[in-house]
Amino acid sequence: MKIILFYLYIFDFLFHQPSVPFVKMIKWFLAALVLSIAESGKIRPQLPSYIKVCHRSDPNLNDCVRESVERIRPYLSQGIPELEIPGCEPLVLPEIVMNQGKGSIMVQSKYKGMQIYGPSQFKLRSVKVDIEKNKVKIKLFLPRLEMIGNYSIQGRIMMLPIAGHGVSTGNYTDIEATAVMQGEKYEKDGETYLNVKELHTDFTIGHASVHLSNLFEGDKQLGDSMNEFLNDNWKSLAEEIKPILEKTISDLFKKFSNKIYQKYPLDVLLPP
Ligand SMILES: *[C@@H]1O[C@H](CO)[C@@H](O)[C@H](O)[C@H]1NC(C)=O
Ligand SMILES: *[C@@H]1O[C@H](CO)[C@@H](O)[C@H](O)[C@H]1NC(C)=O
Repeated sequence: MKIILFYLYIFDFLFHQPSVPFVKMIKWFLAALVLSIAESGKIRPQLPSYIKVCHRSDPNLNDCVRESVERIRPYLSQGIPELEIPGCEPLVLPEIVMNQGKGSIMVQSKYKGMQIYGPSQFKLRSVKVDIEKNKVKIKLFLPRLEMIGNYSIQGRIMMLPIAGHGVSTGNYTDIEATAVMQGEKYEKDGETYLNVKELHTDFTIGHASVHLSNLFEGDKQLGDSMNEFLNDNWKSLAEEIKPILEKTISDLFKKFSNKIYQKYPLDVLLPP
């Protein structure tokens, strides 16, 4: 910025001199220089220092991306305002609506403001970057997720009627997760950018413990036995609920990823 001001100052000074050919030449040269500096600063935003730059020709690219994810972890939990990424401790799912009408579950349920604690405690199992195919595959392990939110539910679960609204809590442990991101390249202002076209996640939950408060208008006996039933059968219930949870979480991460990819050209994120 200072350099640009300096050149502008000289430019202005020379502009007011008698127009001898030499001065004229310098004038145009400086004008071109000022413009090119201003231009390059405009279209090449710098990456924040906490993002480790990996080169796409790096033979150990997978390890580099892995280190990059590790370095950004503390920022993920607090959020990154300049990239419009909210903190993920807790991760908040504004609304999940499930209209399950097949198999052993026939319920309409709604979860509002579900807060998920623990996502930043992930351990990276593997990172695979395929530059040619614009594809990234990440496997991670989540030791524990704790969820709390308001729910409302009605319907039948394995023939038993269920109804209620209140607070839903749940602890999920030993989760293995796989995320596959498929991107596509596009051109904008002479630069190549990446757009995340598809993001799929897949979870396997090791153990779950859940509780729904105020079931059946607060009837303690019915509520207790339904909660006991839910915990005894969490595995088959989780299987049926999984697809919608996976989609909700995939969409959320796709949105955050694209906020970064829209902002920085590929040559800044993954220089040659
Ligand atoms: C959950 O419900 C309670 C009581 O109705 C309310 O005070 C609270 O704001 C709700 N929380 C969310 C996240 O909607
Ligand atoms: C989840 O874990 C917390 C903290 O250990 C505990 O207070 C809570 O009762 C647990 N909730 C369920 C539904 O198991």
